[in-house]
Amino acid sequence: MREFDLEHVYESQQFDSELLDRVFDVADEMKTDLFAKQRRYSQVLKGKIMASLFYEPSTRTRFSFESAMARLGGSTLTTENAKEFSSASKGETLYDSTRVMCEYADLIVMRHNEPGSAKLAAEASSIPIINAGDGSGQHPTQALLDLYTIKDCLSTIDGLSIAMVGDLKYGRTVRSLSYLLTKYSNITIYFVSPSVCKMDDDLKNYLTENNVQWKDESVLEEVLPLVDCVYMTRIQRERFHDLKDYEKAAGKYIIDEEQVKLMKEESIIMHPLPRVDEISQAVDNDPRAQYFQQARNGLFIRMALLFLLLQKP
Ligand code: CP
Repeated sequence: MREFDLEHVYESQQFDSELLDRVFDVADEMKTDLFAKQRRYSQVLKGKIMASLFYEPSTRTRFSFESAMARLGGSTLTTENAKEFSSASKGETLYDSTRVMCEYADLIVMRHNEPGSAKLAAEASSIPIINAGDGSGQHPTQALLDLYTIKDCLSTIDGLSIAMVGDLKYGRTVRSLSYLLTKYSNITIYFVSPSVCKMDDDLKNYLTENNVQWKDESVLEEVLPLVDCVYMTRIQRERFHDLKDYEKAAGKYIIDEEQVKLMKEESIIMHPLPRVDEISQAVDNDPRAQYFQQARNGLFIRMALLFLLLQKP
């Protein structure tokens, strides 16, 4: 099998189908190892240090990366709210912060508010950079765990129809997942969003060029019976420049027990989380609800990425 030859992970377009298979195979190994308490990987990153540099809030991404590093025997340097408590608050550039952190750590996991910031940091860095979300840009490790979850639940990715619902304009998870879906055949994506936060044309053009069918829709109830996966997203109040637009979009699409009745029995409901009101808690025990398993899979995928990036010969 091909070696994992990425130095950094900053966008989904870096992955081809072979690399995706490699990540998923290692994630499977990590999952089996943890469930069977075999501890074959529990010391493989002993002596390695991960810097966890988050300029925006996070629960899942930050803690799953920190948990992944601990479960592989490595350690983590971190700061609460790097925007306020790192020297960024004194005007230090991302370039300078990255150059300096390279002297203290073996890998940087970075979440930043500016699209493209992870790629810029990678250009300045002598150690691997992992993009943990760059504003409304990309969230490639989320997309990897999303795809891993879809494959785990539905056994295949080829031939699937997926509804992406909610904030598609500022949503980095749907962008990153869409790029990865171009590596599979016969995919159809339904973009269901309020008019103020539609998916941008650049992504739609990319999908068309890469043989992925897509459709813009506005009525969720018409799409639910057609798809294998419903990928809900939060309307991100913090990304809207005009709060009147946010108010037009908020609360428009909600999956509750009535909506779930419209879905295929064998379909799944996903969400990168956090949710606000877009999936009712009453749906959580439906067998189609996979968002907590999705978050759990983040641990295995991030263990796999840390292992692959830091265990180079
Ligand atoms: N899905 C996700 O990125 O969650 P956090 O913002 O909590 O990391």
